[in-house]
Amino acid sequence: MKFFVDTANIDEIREADSWGIVDGVTTNPTLVAREGREFEPTIKEICDLMGDRPVSAEVISLDAEGMLTEARNLATWADNIVVKIPMIKEGMKAVKVLAQQGIKTNVTLVFTAGQALIAAKAGATYCSPFLGRIEDMATEAITVVKQMVDIYCAYGFDTQVIVSSVRRPEHVVQSACWGAHVATVPFKVLDQLFNHPLTDRGIEGFLADWENLQKELGK
Ligand code: E4P
Repeated sequence: MKFFVDTANIDEIREADSWGIVDGVTTNPTLVAREGREFEPTIKEICDLMGDRPVSAEVISLDAEGMLTEARNLATWADNIVVKIPMIKEGMKAVKVLAQQGIKTNVTLVFTAGQALIAAKAGATYCSPFLGRIEDMATEAITVVKQMVDIYCAYGFDTQVIVSSVRRPEHVVQSACWGAHVATVPFKVLDQLFNHPLTDRGIEGFLADWENLQKELGK
């Protein structure tokens, strides 16, 4: 399973990448706005940091022609750009054209397996179901991921599922259990995935026992 970091914060990306487990980055307009910097230099810097690993950057237009203009421009910024397109009819028109032109896409704001099926038929490279936001509606969410993986496998779609709107480590584990190709994980949740109190307690115990042995041996 691939891990993408869901952030536009350069320090977070650098830190997470130093852990050796980052396969790409996703951003959205909210995440970019949170950094208070211009869009283009922010995305270019992230693309540079990631090398050949994919970086999703989202279009703002809501009509296919506008999305195509933005997407083609984004694609000139770096070879590893993935253009994020919302799950609307105009968006799927744009995805179809971009797929034919070899520009990678990530269909975003997906909440049902039906939407995911449409995204795959349009030729999306990635499709992003929003787990946390589904749960915010007091609705069970992980079934959508299972349905998406089942449908893509059954019909041999190349589209990869990026589980998005991840709020806690359990979302990543559940997504892995259902065979999602990617989880895009906020920095805080990625950090939490490492932690367990018994790991900390185990290290303390091992080090204390080692120190005691050194003392017994007169070292
Ligand atoms: C990533 O592709 C999505 O834009 C992001 O995961 C949304 O997360 P949120 O629901 O926490 O805003």
